[in-house]
Amino acid sequence: MKRKVIIDTDPGIDDAAALTIALNNPELKVELVSTVAGNVNLDYTTENAKKILDFFEKEVPLAAGSSIPLLREYEDASEFHGETGMGGYDFPESSRQLLPEHAVVEIKNKILAADAKVTLVTIGPLTNAALLLNMYPEVKEKIEEIVIMGGSTVGGNTNSAAEFNIKVDPHAAQIVVNSGLQITIFGLRVTSKALLNKRDIELIKGLGQTGDMLYSLFTHYRGGDLEKHGLMMHDICTICYLVRPDIFKFKETHLEVALAGPAAGATVVDFAARYTDRKNVKLAVKIDQKKFRDWILAEIKKLK
Ligand code: RIB
Ligand code: CA
Repeated sequence: MKRKVIIDTDPGIDDAAALTIALNNPELKVELVSTVAGNVNLDYTTENAKKILDFFEKEVPLAAGSSIPLLREYEDASEFHGETGMGGYDFPESSRQLLPEHAVVEIKNKILAADAKVTLVTIGPLTNAALLLNMYPEVKEKIEEIVIMGGSTVGGNTNSAAEFNIKVDPHAAQIVVNSGLQITIFGLRVTSKALLNKRDIELIKGLGQTGDMLYSLFTHYRGGDLEKHGLMMHDICTICYLVRPDIFKFKETHLEVALAGPAAGATVVDFAARYTDRKNVKLAVKIDQKKFRDWILAEIKKLK
């Protein structure tokens, strides 16, 4: 049976690549895509999600979610993804209709109606996920796992302390990681090593319409340095884990989120269990970079 997945996203160029693979992988059934303000504002992230779903002609329902964080003032990452969040490729305008309710309600409806447990994948700020768990705790027994791209134990990418997804909404992240659910989290220690280099991007360019689209996006993506180490495919790590968990190594540990002050959004991990022996997350600590890169290229090769 295919693994049922809901993807909450802020496309965003690496989000677009993650959606590309998730929507087309035969082991996954994407039941719903929901959008959140993150890399760019909610209007842009939602339009971008429509364009990816249209590109692959997928009848996957789409719902728009939160336009602002729970408490903090919204900040974007347009310097990394361009003003629209998916610059570089000329997607046709979309006439796709959204589901009528807020994404939190639509996620709740989808999870409760599912005939099996659902995995929630969050590759943007966790605002929708936190609201879901606070407003509808009854969904918890139907959630298999929450797989998060976010956080860092090796310094931030917004400042020296905080990774973007968590910094945008640290309160939401703290709610989710302390929900008692199975939480698997991919931070910058691993995702900054999930690299596609210049040669890889050139190879992708020749892989059909999908390769052409991704190449155009990647040449406009500033998450990393194409000329030196390569581009960081942060969000794809969550999808790769669902179908190829062997590519990663993990450590069960305790993670807390700094909520205020200059380090707000920093994720603090109690590796030595000095603070508590309660382990609330499974933290990705290692990636097989070659297997990851080979897997992405093989996945894209299969597509149109
Ligand atoms: O810090 C990387 C994360 O922030 C990724 O999800 C990227 O898309 C941005 O949202
Ligand atoms: Ca993202």
